[in-house]
Amino acid sequence: MESIFILKGDICYSKRLGELQTMEQGYLVCRNGCVEGVYEEIPADFQGVEVKDCGRSLIIPGLVDLHMHAPQYSFRGMHMDLELLEWLERYTFPEEVKYKDLGYARDMYGKFVDRLTYSATTRACIFATIHVPATEILMEQLEASGLCTMVGKVNMDRNAPADLTEENAQVSGEETVEWVLDCRKRFQRTKPILTPRFIPSCSDEMLENLKKIQMRYGLPVQSHLSENVEEIVWVKELCPEAEFYGDAYDRFGLFGADCPTIMAHCVHCEEQEIQRMKENGVFVAHCPESNMNLASGIAPVRTYLEEGIAVGLGSDIAGGTTENIFSAMMHAIQASKLRQSLMKENAAPLTIPEVFYMATKGGGAFFGRVGSFESGYAFDALVLDDSRLGEPEKHSISDRLERFVYLNQEIDVKAKYVEGREIFWR
Ligand code: GUN
Ligand code: FE
Repeated sequence: MESIFILKGDICYSKRLGELQTMEQGYLVCRNGCVEGVYEEIPADFQGVEVKDCGRSLIIPGLVDLHMHAPQYSFRGMHMDLELLEWLERYTFPEEVKYKDLGYARDMYGKFVDRLTYSATTRACIFATIHVPATEILMEQLEASGLCTMVGKVNMDRNAPADLTEENAQVSGEETVEWVLDCRKRFQRTKPILTPRFIPSCSDEMLENLKKIQMRYGLPVQSHLSENVEEIVWVKELCPEAEFYGDAYDRFGLFGADCPTIMAHCVHCEEQEIQRMKENGVFVAHCPESNMNLASGIAPVRTYLEEGIAVGLGSDIAGGTTENIFSAMMHAIQASKLRQSLMKENAAPLTIPEVFYMATKGGGAFFGRVGSFESGYAFDALVLDDSRLGEPEKHSISDRLERFVYLNQEIDVKAKYVEGREIFWR
């Protein structure tokens, strides 16, 4: 049976980087989980269809988080005194070890999924841990939430504590295949994504196995790239034959091209690396809050955009403290302003329409036709209430959007839809 409904409100979405499409008191039509279109008047074909009047609320596409670590949700807001490698060793790895315990995993993942469900995020690419049973608990909970996500059982077989290191590359590969087959049977909107943690955690043999698995099952890949200077030096020592960090993945076919890939951070990418990312269509997950908290640096996002590289935003929980992607939009702009002033670069800071694009259609492209209200896009939508700030109708939609970014802690997400499914209305 056909399912169709209409949302009426102040509509804002993006078709191209840097521009906003806005319509006050417009009609957004959802048909069978997809956007039919945005209209000033209800078209003749849809007369009589149910209209949900959102008043002066803003209606925008759901936000996309291209990079977050679910098991780190339990320690967010703590332990920001160290840089990446020491932070992993001292705080992160010991926390992830705990997910061997399924009671702990169920409890902590439950809190994470609850929070994500009521956030502005409709889609996310998520790291779990090496543990298959705990990863499936997380996926079960995400499936029940109605969100659309890609989740990775993490692969790591070196340079970590013994209880967070898989026995060997072969075992890691076998467990990964079983996990992929199992979750393909069990879940519809919670998809597996191959997740070699980062080069220091992954032996050549493991990466070779993962490529075979990637090809056999047609899987996407997520990992970390050029986040921290010390990390990059270490990768050079571990892989002297690689031309640059990203080449250490590309040598195994795990860096875009025939294999859809997200690389998180990309703070210190060199010229050759940027060119390879561009050639291979690698997606960048820009995680500005994490880059500040871990003193990693400021990613050259303007360069990526000018090169035509796909960029989305990531919270990087728990390098970042919040799952709120409006906050990531704010931090992306602020970081770009600091970069311009500190580096004396000629690069213009990021704008609200640019970060809005990254948070919606930019990151959404990793999921397909996602992140816009153009016809045929998945109907992922948020209804945002700013009435408590007073007289929303007196401001332009673009000014209100800016305020949603900067006052991100005061935002009320009134309703959320994913693929036309109502996740909540409150
Ligand atoms: N690089 C490898 N693992 C991690 C992680 O858990 N967080 C961040 N920010 N970077 C990483
Ligand atoms: Fe990360």
